[in-house]
Amino acid sequence: KSIVILVSGRGSNMEAIVRAGIPGARIAAVISNRPDSPALAFAEAQGIAALAIDHKAYADRSAFDAALAEAIDARDPDLVVLAGFMRVLTDDFVRRYEGRLINIHPSLLPAFPGLHTHRRALEAGVRVHGATVHFVTAELDSGPMVIQAVVPVRDDDDEASLAARVLEQEHRIYPQAVRWFVEGRLQLGGDNRVRVVGAE
Ligand code: GRF
Repeated sequence: KSIVILVSGRGSNMEAIVRAGIPGARIAAVISNRPDSPALAFAEAQGIAALAIDHKAYADRSAFDAALAEAIDARDPDLVVLAGFMRVLTDDFVRRYEGRLINIHPSLLPAFPGLHTHRRALEAGVRVHGATVHFVTAELDSGPMVIQAVVPVRDDDDEASLAARVLEQEHRIYPQAVRWFVEGRLQLGGDNRVRVVGAE
């Protein structure tokens, strides 16, 4: 199965997926909307096609999304992976990749959709926090969930310590979700639910 990964920044989740060396998975390209993303340098060093499509060069969101879709479709991927991709995508874009577009969100959805999840978790006083891999639908951070990881919130946590604990789990569950997809084990029901079928 061929995979295109979209990033905006550091790219540690992309790196975790690449390093997992998932059998049957080929990373066809890594695309960043920020030309200076360290993720592109890592991809290039791995011999993976690395592309920058700078959103600032486009008049509006739909022009940017059209350019992005064109670059993705040139690779004809089975799966598009959002890994710290910080642009909100248009409904058209999301519909085009329905059922083959996944994202990781740093909270236990449906808690804390949107930005600054770790700060908000600390403010809310929750005792557990975590991360969620989900299929992307038109509504932000709300598509069918594939896998979640839970971490404890400690009394002395700050945003950075909590983020680091969650990130470690992201690096475990994102490759796992991609592996399931590649193995054909993810079934998307019409009820907004995912079933993970077959044996480990
Ligand atoms: C991750 O915490 C991800 O959940 C969030 O943005 C961060 C991206 O980190 N959406 P990286 O670029 O994968 O290192």
